[in-house]
Amino acid sequence: AEGDPAAGEKVYKKCKVCHMVGEGAKNRVGPPLNDIIGRQAGTLGGFNYSPAMKKAGEEGLVWTEEAMAEYLEAPRKYVKGTKMAFPGLKKEQEIADVIAYLKQFSE
Ligand code: HEM
Repeated sequence: AEGDPAAGEKVYKKCKVCHMVGEGAKNRVGPPLNDIIGRQAGTLGGFNYSPAMKKAGEEGLVWTEEAMAEYLEAPRKYVKGTKMAFPGLKKEQEIADVIAYLKQFSE
């Protein structure tokens, strides 16, 4: 189903301990997620990525909506060796919603 940005804002509560988004967003445990859609993985300047995430980006991983959906389902399976300590989101709808929320901060 289509993602709902308002529902996604609630899902984002699970992310925001580690990720800031919006004006003035800075590094937390994870990088800020402004302009994440379409960004090459592991490339935001000033954030200390894991070697695994940098390699994934160098090998061509770009955060399309599709790639992000797969990542969020099982981060440590999709990017083996990532230091993102998050088990993933179980529901497809939650994933679609949080991506719709983040899309508002992209472009
Ligand atoms: C990386 C999204 C939850 C910590 C990333 C990246 C995305 C992302 C798209 C890749 C960034 C890039 O390549 O520039 C999300 C979303 C979350 C979530 C949507 C919630 C559903 C979390 C949580 C933590 C976390 C809860 C901390 C416990 C990190 C870290 C990285 C990262 C440390 C860098 C990974 C690495 O270098 O291997 N996240 N994240 N994230 N995230 Fe998350």
